[in-house]
Formats: sequence, C-alpha cells, structure tokens
Amino acid sequence: MKRFIYLLWFAHEHVAFRIHEIESIASLLNIPIKWLEPPSDEPWYLVELPSEEAVQQISARSVTMRRALQLWADEPTISKLHETLKEKCLNGILEPFKLKSFKVDVDLFCNSQTKEEKLERIESFSYIPFEGPVNLKNPDVTFQYIEYYGLDPKNIPEFPTRTFFGRVVAESGRSLIHELSLKNRTFIGNTSMDPQLSLLMANLGKVSNGDLVLDPFVGSGSLLVAAAKFGGHVIGTDIDYLMLHGRTRPTRKQTRHIPRRNESIEANMVQYSCVDKYIDVIVADSSIPCWRSDVEFDCILADPPYGIREPTERIGSKEFLPIVKKETIHFPSKVDYGLNEIVKDLMKFSSKQLKLNGRLLFWVPVFKQHYDESQIPRHSSFKLIGNCEQVLTTFTARRLLIFEKIKMPEDTDECSCTIPSTNSFREQFFNWDENRLTRKEKKEAAARNKELWFAKLNNINVK
Ligand SMILES: C[S@@+](CC[C@H](N)C(=O)[O-])C[C@H]1O[C@@H](n2cnc3c(N)ncnc32)[C@H](O)[C@@H]1O
Repeated sequence: MKRFIYLLWFAHEHVAFRIHEIESIASLLNIPIKWLEPPSDEPWYLVELPSEEAVQQISARSVTMRRALQLWADEPTISKLHETLKEKCLNGILEPFKLKSFKVDVDLFCNSQTKEEKLERIESFSYIPFEGPVNLKNPDVTFQYIEYYGLDPKNIPEFPTRTFFGRVVAESGRSLIHELSLKNRTFIGNTSMDPQLSLLMANLGKVSNGDLVLDPFVGSGSLLVAAAKFGGHVIGTDIDYLMLHGRTRPTRKQTRHIPRRNESIEANMVQYSCVDKYIDVIVADSSIPCWRSDVEFDCILADPPYGIREPTERIGSKEFLPIVKKETIHFPSKVDYGLNEIVKDLMKFSSKQLKLNGRLLFWVPVFKQHYDESQIPRHSSFKLIGNCEQVLTTFTARRLLIFEKIKMPEDTDECSCTIPSTNSFREQFFNWDENRLTRKEKKEAAARNKELWFAKLNNINVK
C-alpha cells in the first residue's frame, strides 16, 4: 500500500496532550499511523498515514491540531526549500491542482511579519506554474508555507531553523471549541471545564457513536456536552442538589442579581443540538455508587473536586449513623472526602463498571514541587496510558490521568494512591509562598537592597 507523508500542524497549547490525542483518535478509527520523528514540543508531527481520507478523519476530531498538510518540502533553509519545490514542480507534483483556484497561507512560528513581508513571501513562490485563479475566500486548494523560528520568544534567530511547504488536506475540529464557548453557554458553574479540555478528554477517552459515558462529578456538565458531541450517550451524578437544579449563585457577574431560570445541563444539550444523547443527571454521592451491578460504561470521564472552589465531601457522619424514618425529610450530613479516597473509590468503581478496554480519565491537582511519579494511583485492572500536565500557577498544576481497563477486577485488588490529600493541596494552594510580598513590601525590600549594596560598595557598616 502506498503511504504518504503528512505534517500535522498544531496550536501551541496543551503540548503534553497532543501525542495522546492523535494516538487515541487513530486507534479509535483503526487507522495505522507511523511517527517519522520522535515526539517533541515543536508544533508539528511528521507522520505516515494510509490515505488522505484517514488524515481528514483524524483531523476532524482533533482539537489540538490546526490543520494537516501533504508535505511537499521540508528543509532547514528557505533557499533549500525553494530548490526542492522547483524540482518537485518539474516532476509534476502540481499537475492535479494546476488549473484549480488556490491560495497560499503563510505562518511564522515564534516570529511575526508585516502585511508587506507576507506578500513578499507569497510572491517568492511565483515560479510555481499555477494556472488557476487566486481565490482567498473559498479556494479549491490551499497551500501552506511555514517558517519555524524555535520555541523561545526571547531568543528568535535571524533565519528560520526549519521550513515547510505543503498542500492543506484537512482542517481540524477546533471550530467546536468556539461553538461550545462558555461565554454563550446557557448553564455554567464556577468550575465548568473549558471546551477545549472537555473535547480533548472525550477524544482521549475514545468516545464514539453510541457509547455510554459517565461523569460521576458532573457539576455543570461540560464533559457530558463534549462526549455527546462525539456521539456518546451521557449520564452524570453530583452530590450538589443546587448545582444540578441550576439554583446555585449565578456565575456570570452581570447576572448575579437575576434569579436563574431554565438553566440546566439539559438546556445546554438543547443549545448544542445533542439533547438526543442526554440520558439524565442524578443527585448522588459517588462514594456510594448507585448503579445496578450489570451496568457497564464505555468511558468514565471525571473532574473531581480539588477543594479550592468547591467542597470535597461525601455523605457520612463523624458521630453516629442516624436511623432515618421513611416518611421524614432527611438531609444527610456530610464529611470530608480526601482526594486519595476519591481516587481510590473512583478506580474501584471503574474497575467493576467500566467495559474491558474502556477508558477512565480524571484530573488530579498537584503541587509541582512536591509531585513525583510514585504518587500516581495504580490498580491492577488498569494500564496508565497517559499522564499530562496542565500548568495552573507557578506552583500548581493539574494532571490528567488516562487509564485503560485491561482486566476484570478480583476481590483482592486494591488501588494504591499516595496523592497528598485535598486538604494539603488546599493549604499549599493558599499558602504557596509564605514570603509572598505586597507591592509596598517589595518596594521597601528593593530600597533596602539598594542601601545594602551602596553600603557594601563604600565599606560602610549597616545593621
Ligand atoms: C470540579 S467540579 C466538576 C466540574 C464539572 N466538570 C463542570 O464542568 O462543571 C466537581 C464536582 O464534584 C461534585 N462533588 C463533590 N463531592 C462529590 C461526591 N462525593 N459525589 C459526587 N459529586 C461530588 C461537586 O459538587 C462539583 O460539582
């Protein structure tokens, strides 16, 4: 079978997630993919794929990619790129596209260009024997020229270190990110997951048409929306009755004084035309699973609480277990539910109620200085497929753990997990720098420093 080389061109964000996203989509679609260079932080992957259709299928689902090119030239310098391209044109690479309308897009990575410079670059390709008309709005064929100037914006070289030219064969699924924007969403909460990460999770979870997808910490349902957009039948649980009934304090500043109306996860599903994929959400405590033992989910996506903007709690009592009469209204008391416990319960539950080969994905917050790989939870029913970091602040991050179920659980199976408890994350989050200074203190410290230096220079003794 003839295979072609394609350049997958990425947006420069969520770098750690790219390779897992493309691998997950390719494996979901059963498309063999060959990586031609080891994965790096550079904004492209060179791959071999069996057909243009395969590239289009992968691109259409990806939210980390921008577009895919059939590679015509890949050279370390601009002059070498033009040489290669001239040779390829002589060999007839343009023939099938010669008469079509076209445009050339120019992208500089880690550098900028004026309009005039852009035009100059486009005109430098005038030797290509295009015969069709230029069409900037809706061309039959788009070509892409890329100059890469490295990853360090503080150290931009004079000339690009790599250049590419290719024919655009597919655009990515990134338009969905804008379609699902939180800005215009009917119902959001103060911890709603952003659309790109939600879609990314659905891709990494290999959600496909007809799958049964559960979010046990559903909140405002962002993960369900993303999974439903990829064809999953979605269901969720949350311990917070007010959240599921859209009765929490409005999150949008300008609507704080207006009571919430018709806000719910279902309303979001209607807004995004995927209500047919919505099963329901249930007020329930995920530490006490409420599912029939024969229910099997294809995918479990979770964004458990970190204790920063929402409490981490489960139903329980420190003192005694009250006996509740059936006819009385009972509001169960709650106790703290540490991250370790949450993760252990989630993995135990998933080991039983996730399909074999199904994926379990969840986030854990980490304090970067104290994080090490040994804290990552392990369970013999699961293989860790990916562990991707999203930096939150200088000191904190969250990691998305991607697990695949590889065997049915045994009674003796235990989940080992040594993630520091939510309380400790919370403490570190709020007291991350005891020496953090106010502006005034910083000014005073700088002045004092200056004074000390001056004294040192002039051999004066200062207390
Ligand atoms: C980080 S938020 C999830 C946000 C959600 N991904 C979204 O996009 O809106 C965590 C959610 O877990 C819920 N939660 C906390 N403890 C729980 C428990 N024991 N069982 C079920 N849900 C719980 C909280 O009420 C909160 O809505």
